[in-house]
Amino acid sequence: MAGEVLMRVEELSLHAGGRELQRGLNFDVCAGEVLAICGASGCGKSTLLRHMIGLQVPQQGRVTWVANGADRDVHGDDPPQREIGVAFQAGALWSSMTVGENLMLPLELYTDLDLPQRERQARFKLALAGLPDAATFDAEPAQLSGGMRKRAAIARALMLDPPLLCLDEPSAGLDPLTSARLDDLIVRLKRDLGTAIVLVTHELESLFAVADRLLFLDVEAHTATALGPPAELRDHGPAGVREFLTRGAAVPEENAA
Ligand SMILES: Nc1ncnc2c1ncn2[C@@H]1O[C@H](COP(=O)(O)OP(=O)(O)OP(=O)(O)O)[C@@H](O)[C@H]1O
Ligand SMILES: [Mg+2]
Repeated sequence: MAGEVLMRVEELSLHAGGRELQRGLNFDVCAGEVLAICGASGCGKSTLLRHMIGLQVPQQGRVTWVANGADRDVHGDDPPQREIGVAFQAGALWSSMTVGENLMLPLELYTDLDLPQRERQARFKLALAGLPDAATFDAEPAQLSGGMRKRAAIARALMLDPPLLCLDEPSAGLDPLTSARLDDLIVRLKRDLGTAIVLVTHELESLFAVADRLLFLDVEAHTATALGPPAELRDHGPAGVREFLTRGAAVPEENAA
């Protein structure tokens, strides 16, 4: 069950390269829910995430962190940096640091934990993200496989135990088993820690397995055309959304002619 509202997105427009990608986006992210963001490649999913975490300032609209009764503009003076963990699409880690150093950095910046405590936390988060091998901690990011780098980036996003975790295509390029394990991790984070997760994904299996709600960004309409439980949208949503959720297999009845 989703809890209190953590983040409110109001009348948000997304721009990139002088073009308006999306307009009039309105939705909340609630504690303990998995909100999937879907849409065709280039519709603005990664751009939306950058706006939600405060990296990109909107030309129109607002993103507000509303947890604990205080409204904080994500782009204002007191941004919720510690409250939002993020793993980018490319899973970027600092290449000049070991994996362990990458993970311990947020603790160094934001907490008073000493080195042994930081190290314990980092090893714990690596194991949580499915990288229990002790050698991974001392490896350089370049020594890891693409899938391991993605999981290490997720481990880093978890270091401060954020109430909101944003994952941009975490399972892209992973083998099916690793991808299924990642789905398990998402479900466990939500269930055991009450973490809210905003998940950009193209993987339908993963979507139906973990997402409570789906926000569909339409690349042609330049706005969200659906927000709701994935199974409901697959069966009763707008035609474009049903097509997306069935990989084009189901031609919507009223549009069949
Ligand atoms: N910094 C930028 N400068 C210019 N154009 C950009 C920039 N960032 C994104 N774009 C453009 O904005 C559009 C949306 O990009 P975005 O990365 O948000 O799409 P996406 O929905 O995440 O796509 P994908 O599913 O392929 O990851 C694309 O056409 C992209 O080329
Ligand atoms: Mg993207």
